[in-house]
Amino acid sequence: MKVEELKKDIYYVGALDGGRKLFDALIPLPDGTSYNSYLIKGSEKTVLIDTVDPAKENVLIKNLKKLKIDKLDYIISQHCEQDHSGTIPTILKLYKDAKVITNAKNKELLKEHLLISEDKIVEIQDGEELSLGNKTLKFIFTPWVHWPETMCTYLKEDKILFSCDFFGSHIAFTDLFVKDKKHVYVAAKRYYAEIMMPFRTVIKSNLKKVEALEIDLIAPSHGSLHNEPSFIMDAYRDWTSDKVKNEVVIPYVSMHGSVAKMVEYLVKALEEKGIVVKAFNLAQMDLGELAMALVDAATVVIATPTVLVRPHPLAVYAAYLTNALRPKTRFASIVGSYGWGGKMPEEIKGLISNLKVELIEPVIAKGYPKEADFKALDELAEKIKNKHKEGEINNG
Ligand code: FEO
Repeated sequence: MKVEELKKDIYYVGALDGGRKLFDALIPLPDGTSYNSYLIKGSEKTVLIDTVDPAKENVLIKNLKKLKIDKLDYIISQHCEQDHSGTIPTILKLYKDAKVITNAKNKELLKEHLLISEDKIVEIQDGEELSLGNKTLKFIFTPWVHWPETMCTYLKEDKILFSCDFFGSHIAFTDLFVKDKKHVYVAAKRYYAEIMMPFRTVIKSNLKKVEALEIDLIAPSHGSLHNEPSFIMDAYRDWTSDKVKNEVVIPYVSMHGSVAKMVEYLVKALEEKGIVVKAFNLAQMDLGELAMALVDAATVVIATPTVLVRPHPLAVYAAYLTNALRPKTRFASIVGSYGWGGKMPEEIKGLISNLKVELIEPVIAKGYPKEADFKALDELAEKIKNKHKEGEINNG
């Protein structure tokens, strides 16, 4: 990524990583990602906002050289995670006078994770301002977007919000500013679902905090920059709202066809009642697709055979992740089959104990589903329809 001037004396100096396929050894990256770093030249001080993942530190260093930056006063560290802070130690070696500016929580994390010495860190408070001469930075603490120490930085004169992971998307973009809204919307929703959803209520209050600012440009630390801030802020308002949609998500796994047949039957029964159904075969799914579906759905139904008296490991994985992501889903149920016994439903229930859901009676077949099982699936579909109706949940 070449250096780009966003506004006078404000530069993009980050790196694209189109080849990266996985984040946190867990999250698929269909579009790669970017590590956005920004340089601001004030009339008196020069600052760098976040760095890049150590895998791309050569790009950041090259970009600073291109701009002939021989003195750096501050590195603003908005978040300790290594994709933004991992190159701080290298930058500190290259720019001996530079100090790291951050909050008390991040100070401790930077000491532990990046081995940065305390004397290199200047601690700031929520709402504190820093003058760069003709430009002023204001620090806004936004915990849990993504870690407890995460914060944003607002450049007052230019009305730019540097939002770190907040409003980000994993895209090794070709357009620095959002151009293909549809593509960015999906990537940002995937990012929200995987990274932010567990902290939905805190994010809602952080959203209110930044809404109080006059913002012309949102410059996140991943993905394209938002020169139409309402586009991404409206999306976040929707995702973090308490509103759920008339949708059922069914993560399922089938070994010998029994569960697949039950899921196929349930999908049809629900769709006939006007409910949108998103079924995911766990043997070949993309975790991000499942996470995105969970952002809006009113109900989740986990479907699994019984293996060694317990749920199939892929169903355990899906239940564990759903529980960890804590979607706003209101209802849950279980569908499955067994050969000669087991505790599959109890184990799945235990695995989703974080969810604030009403559990609807599971449908479990012995072996291949028979007439009574299909009748029970019809009843389950009817119960889900009625629950959605009572909750005034619609497709709007
Ligand atoms: Fe992009 Fe939470 O780091």
